[in-house]
Amino acid sequence: MERACENANVDENTRNSRVNLRSKENKDKSKKPLKVAISGKGGVGKTTLAAVLAHLFAKDGFSVTAIDCDSSINLPSALGIEEEITPLSTLRHIIEERVKLPFGAFRYNPKVDDVFEKYSRRNEDGVRVLVLGTIEKGGEGCFCPENAFLRAILRHAIFSDDVLILDMEAGIEHLGRGTAKGVDVLIAVVEPGRRSVETLKRIEKLAGDIEIERIAVVVNKYFEEARALLEEVERNYHVLGVIPHSDCFVRADLSSTPPYKLCDLRPFVEVKKSLIEFVGSGRK
Ligand SMILES: Nc1ncnc2c1ncn2[C@@H]1O[C@H](COP(=O)(O)OP(=O)(O)O)[C@@H](O)[C@H]1O
Ligand SMILES: [Mg+2]
Repeated sequence: MERACENANVDENTRNSRVNLRSKENKDKSKKPLKVAISGKGGVGKTTLAAVLAHLFAKDGFSVTAIDCDSSINLPSALGIEEEITPLSTLRHIIEERVKLPFGAFRYNPKVDDVFEKYSRRNEDGVRVLVLGTIEKGGEGCFCPENAFLRAILRHAIFSDDVLILDMEAGIEHLGRGTAKGVDVLIAVVEPGRRSVETLKRIEKLAGDIEIERIAVVVNKYFEEARALLEEVERNYHVLGVIPHSDCFVRADLSSTPPYKLCDLRPFVEVKKSLIEFVGSGRK
């Protein structure tokens, strides 16, 4: 298994140069759809932001794919999908068939387009939703075939013509370098509180390690007493927007209603605007 993991790394390095080329080609295309990853401490509002952004981009007429990459899966319900979506990491049979090669090696770039179709669901806005499931960490107990498969799914989404929203946990290293390079911006969500800001620093470091180009922050659950913390974050990061604390989101969550059906979307519209400006401006 260990050897198979090393193979994957070598393969990934070779692949990276191709990924680079692709993103350079894409730089000139003004219509290149946005690819966004959302990270942050548990409970800060990543899924809420992911669902509302997906909704807003779909309303603007974009094709949107939203992928739940968090081990606590809740993006489908935030997007109004009630039926269960099979986590792709659980498709052991398909993973073995597509990824495994003889002698413990495996295919780095397995065919996944049919899986992408079959295991995604569309919500009423037409947003395509997939659930990745847990990606195992490397080293002991490394299930590299699963990682290779899930990364192939992410690459497929990154090279598609859809706006892509990845709802991730704080541990974004699972993205892998090759995939991370295709992400235009990593949005770290923070809520007023020291722990959330500490997680932000960790995310920034991880983003640097996998060479994500741009990182920006959304401050969620904001209330006036947290001004000093907001100013501190603004001094160190590019803040895309501030979303006030509102019970409306909790009510939406409690009644399994997508937040965009109940809550004030104006702060999110501002976030979307700044996001497009930030990526378009070429700032890092
Ligand atoms: N601006 C906000 N004000 C108040 N509650 C919020 C806000 N944004 C999200 N929430 C609530 O916080 C909880 C966690 O949000 P969620 O988006 O699931 O976080 P995460 O995906 O980061 O774990 C949910 O109950 C959600 O409704
Ligand atoms: Mg979540």
